[in-house]
Amino acid sequence: MEDFVYRDRRLHAEEASLEAIAEAHGTPCYVYSAGAIARRTRELREALGGRAHRICYAVKASGNLAVLQLMRTLGCGFDIVSGGELARVRAAGGAPGDAVFSGVGKSTAELREALAAGVAAVHAESRGELARIERIAAELDLAAPVAVRVNPALAALDTHPHIATGHAGSKFGLPMAEAFEVCRAAAAAPRLRLRGLACHIGSQLTDLAPLAAAARELVALADRLRDAGVALEYLDFGGGLGVRHRDETPPSATDWAGALGDALGDRPLTLLVEPGRFLTGNAGVLLTRVEYLKQTAGGCFAVVDAAMTELLRPALYGAWHAILPVRRDLGREPVRCDVVGPVCETADCLGRDRTLAVAEGDLLAVFSTGAYAASMGSGYNSRPAAAEVMVAGARIDLVRERGRAEDLYAGERLRPGAA
Ligand code: LLP
Repeated sequence: MEDFVYRDRRLHAEEASLEAIAEAHGTPCYVYSAGAIARRTRELREALGGRAHRICYAVKASGNLAVLQLMRTLGCGFDIVSGGELARVRAAGGAPGDAVFSGVGKSTAELREALAAGVAAVHAESRGELARIERIAAELDLAAPVAVRVNPALAALDTHPHIATGHAGSKFGLPMAEAFEVCRAAAAAPRLRLRGLACHIGSQLTDLAPLAAAARELVALADRLRDAGVALEYLDFGGGLGVRHRDETPPSATDWAGALGDALGDRPLTLLVEPGRFLTGNAGVLLTRVEYLKQTAGGCFAVVDAAMTELLRPALYGAWHAILPVRRDLGREPVRCDVVGPVCETADCLGRDRTLAVAEGDLLAVFSTGAYAASMGSGYNSRPAAAEVMVAGARIDLVRERGRAEDLYAGERLRPGAA
């Protein structure tokens, strides 16, 4: 978070004043630091250094076109999970051949489009999906590049249950017990080209052990396949590396890359990873203005102009995000309050029980909102999308215009003559 610092008691993103950004572009507004994203990406690349690797940025974390453009210039590929994300990658100038296509429920239309476009591989999660891919490949007269995503069935993962995916009861991945046979069959299918294996066990993981354990499982499966004559090109260890929101101590890029490298040893396989949050999570803040300070029998509320529609994580996962005033020079009295949005839901709370030196009209910054904030946004309560800005040094680019109310009902129709 060192890219968001106070200078003269005013919060800046790199060299740009957040107050100036709010003046120019209004609130709520997401502000991304290009420098922070680039640094994280280089950190991971250097950690993976010596071996053949590919970083496929998980588009779902933040799919803003300018973020994808930056990732492309940093040499990343993409991990996509829908036709919509493929369209985003292409709109940002990315090549389908730089994308791997993950996801548990890809539709026939999405698979057809992705294969025709030439994605690097479809990461299949079930026998049914592989059968469907074979049919589509025959129709398109090609051999479909695929990898098989397996579920390593790890027990308790140290993250919120909503974002754990690598346990036996989850919908994700092919059960490990079936994986060997399914991969052998895929390798023998003329319409499939089995390129690799994949896994992804959960998100915001702060413990290296399960990530390392899953990697060892994947490597063991690759070894069995190699011994059975099935050669692979890559192993994709997914994403999941956590970031610090409060006092967590997630593993570093070096720890993570080290654990994956240890599991892989000197096998001649390319190492893929699909990080999302690690690259962008701490590289963004959500700027919001205090509308009201409201005292009730239940306590004090700072009612701000951002809501669960811009940051769902506290409501959905009980996530904690730091919230700080943009100016520290205003001599405000600290108040103990819940920071809430205008949405008509009690769950619309961005931070509970915070001590903030603010008054009505002041600006606040909600930290670590570079991942899974804008991308999980909604138009609930008919709230138009917030603006998004990217900063690089002192340069400020608006990378998403604030939405308008008309955008929200653009596809809707009155019934002719029904009035
Ligand atoms: N690869 C696959 C197949 C995934 O499903 C995900 C995330 C990633 C990579 C990237 O994971 P990351 O490195 O960002 O942890 N909305 C939740 C997170 C859901 C993650 C879903 N899959 C949140 O706000 O915490």
